[in-house]
Amino acid sequence: MKGVVLAGGTGSRLRPITFSMAKQLVPVANKPILFYGLEDLAEAGIEEVGVIIAPQTGDEIRRTVGDGDRFGLSIEYIVQDEPLGLAHALKTALPFVDGDDVLMYLGDNLVKQGVADVVRDFNEDRPNCQILLTKVDDPRQFGVAELGDAGEVVRLVEKPSNPRSDLALVGVYLFDQTVVEAVNAIQPSARGELEITDAIQYLVSSGREVRPSLVTGWWKDTGKKEDLLHANELVLSDLKEEISGDVVGGAIRGVVRVGAGSRLVDCEVAGPAVIGSGVQMARTTVGPNTAIGDGCRLLDVQIEDSIVLDTAEIHGWSLRDSLIGREAKLHGAAPAGYVEVMLGERSELRGE
Ligand code: TTP
Repeated sequence: MKGVVLAGGTGSRLRPITFSMAKQLVPVANKPILFYGLEDLAEAGIEEVGVIIAPQTGDEIRRTVGDGDRFGLSIEYIVQDEPLGLAHALKTALPFVDGDDVLMYLGDNLVKQGVADVVRDFNEDRPNCQILLTKVDDPRQFGVAELGDAGEVVRLVEKPSNPRSDLALVGVYLFDQTVVEAVNAIQPSARGELEITDAIQYLVSSGREVRPSLVTGWWKDTGKKEDLLHANELVLSDLKEEISGDVVGGAIRGVVRVGAGSRLVDCEVAGPAVIGSGVQMARTTVGPNTAIGDGCRLLDVQIEDSIVLDTAEIHGWSLRDSLIGREAKLHGAAPAGYVEVMLGERSELRGE
């Protein structure tokens, strides 16, 4: 089985962060989202992976992910000229798949249970397609599956306005070679995309076996800031303690990781929280559910439930539910109380 990981797209819901970086490289607990999926594929025994990239952000993904060695994978990059849909991305990858079975993985998704179990099930029972489903509160935002009395998939609908099921498709799909016929048979949807739900519906309608499995652990699509922060919280809840930097005065409570070369002076850190390497922090309160990237500088700051990317500088602000881009700066007289900010790379906020 080959892996196809989708790391193209536009990431418009995460602007301004995605004006300057691929959304799949935004860090969750200080590791790019995409790395979690690649690790899951390797753990499931998949060796060859094609990573779909967009012309605008592909180079950064190539540089950051490399040839796959660090994951124990062999990675090829496949450029999708335009983000014309998930099934279009898979269609673009078909020469790479070359008639093998394929596991398609959305590069901005996190699946707590990984994919090893579902790969094993697929290999044992060989349905034509296997999809992962999970119950969601608002199915209108997702691809949704309706199941029949025997638990079989009867219908798939992309973002239905009147959902008849609360089972959303998780971003992991396994196919045998019948997927070639399916992606070639479908037409673009009303929004102009080749929908993966239409390709799977084609398989259902033509009598192929489409097997659903319910995910057991959590699943997160990190396409929006709230979901990204929630993913950060979920991943941090499994954090292992490791303090490598210098902690001078202050207090550390709960599970906290502090990277090498960081210096915390008179800081209060409430885990779970991760602080990268080379971070300088003084008189600052961090956490819980917070990730501070490498090389950041925080002075007289309070921050919780937030992600700060590398080398950002914050002076005197109180932040909550915030996403701060690389090299961004917040300084000057800060507003009273906590603020919620999403700040793009190299942007600057200065209070009067
Ligand atoms: P989405 O989050 O559905 O799409 P998007 O990245 O364009 O985001 P937005 O709606 O905020 O503009 O995509 C899920 C994953 O699949 C994500 O990693 C991007 C990737 N993708 C592609 O590689 N090619 C595509 O044509 C599309 C639509 C998505």
